[in-house]
Amino acid sequence: MAADSPFRPEIVKGKVALLTGGASGIGYGISLELGKHGASIALMGRRKHIVDSAVSSLRSLGIPAIGFAGDVRNGEDAARAVEGTVKHFGRLDILVNAAAGNFLTPAEHLSPNGFKTVMDIDAVGTFTMCHEAVKYLKRGGEGRDPSDAGGAIINISATLHYTASWYQIHVSAAKAAVDSLTRSLALEWGTDYDIRVNGIAPGPIQDTAGVTKLVLPNITKQNHPLFRFGDKWDIAMSVLYLASDAGKFVNGTTMVVDGGQWLSKPRSLGKDQVKQLSKVVEKRSREAPVGVPKSKL
Ligand code: COA
Repeated sequence: MAADSPFRPEIVKGKVALLTGGASGIGYGISLELGKHGASIALMGRRKHIVDSAVSSLRSLGIPAIGFAGDVRNGEDAARAVEGTVKHFGRLDILVNAAAGNFLTPAEHLSPNGFKTVMDIDAVGTFTMCHEAVKYLKRGGEGRDPSDAGGAIINISATLHYTASWYQIHVSAAKAAVDSLTRSLALEWGTDYDIRVNGIAPGPIQDTAGVTKLVLPNITKQNHPLFRFGDKWDIAMSVLYLASDAGKFVNGTTMVVDGGQWLSKPRSLGKDQVKQLSKVVEKRSREAPVGVPKSKL
């Protein structure tokens, strides 16, 4: 259940945000909260009717919004969305790369083109958008006041690649590349242009394609530290923190927002069992004469 925002309603007032994948799922949740906190919103998504409907919903709440039907794999679409945003709103302050592709497949059943498809959407698409947007995001860039800091980029990532994930070799590789882009761009563009580049790695977020497509029924919620799914709101609040002045000293990090899920592992012993066992082992250990090898305890 989404709570009220802890942020001031004007925390991103006057800023313009462009979001890929911003018309549905986590992307729309972010668009909504950025809009509610004062930003003007440009959405990019592949399906025109979904983009149109998201734009209408935002406008019905009084949020200035425009939409672009396009694919981040197509350089012309990417350029059109960035240029169209600046043409309409006069500037660009926040780029959120939320477009992603995913499906479950054993590695040996994934064709090289299937692997490439997800790399192209997640990794190359993220770079393409950043590349198109940099001239507007940089300090002193077109549309920016001389007193403005550089803009912010937020890349939506994952935790799949921190260890290894079953049946998602393509996405693990793509998100590892996204995190690498986040760090490299934070270094180069933070230094040269005062642009902050950060990422967010969401856990399973309810009411999204990610959960519908990827969360297998029998592993759902098992061993999950906070024992629940997240909300789009949880990711949106993290974006507000990273994209606003609240996060002005944060650069090059990917914030994990998953309730600790990526740390999850099966419990090898129950609490009562471990308590009993520990007592026995400790007793034996204290009673054993000094010098007895550990293997004899
Ligand atoms: N298992 C194995 N391979 C698959 C697959 C699956 N479930 N789905 C697609 N592929 C392969 C295709 O076979 C094809 O490879 P081939 O040419 O060697 O046969 C390749 O991936 C491209 O598939 P195609 O359907 O042409 O791609 P698309 O551009 O229409 O769709 C996807 C892109 C596949 C990523 C699609 O799932 C998508 O659009 N996803 C966006 C939404 C999403 O996934 N959201 C979840 C975010 S967590």
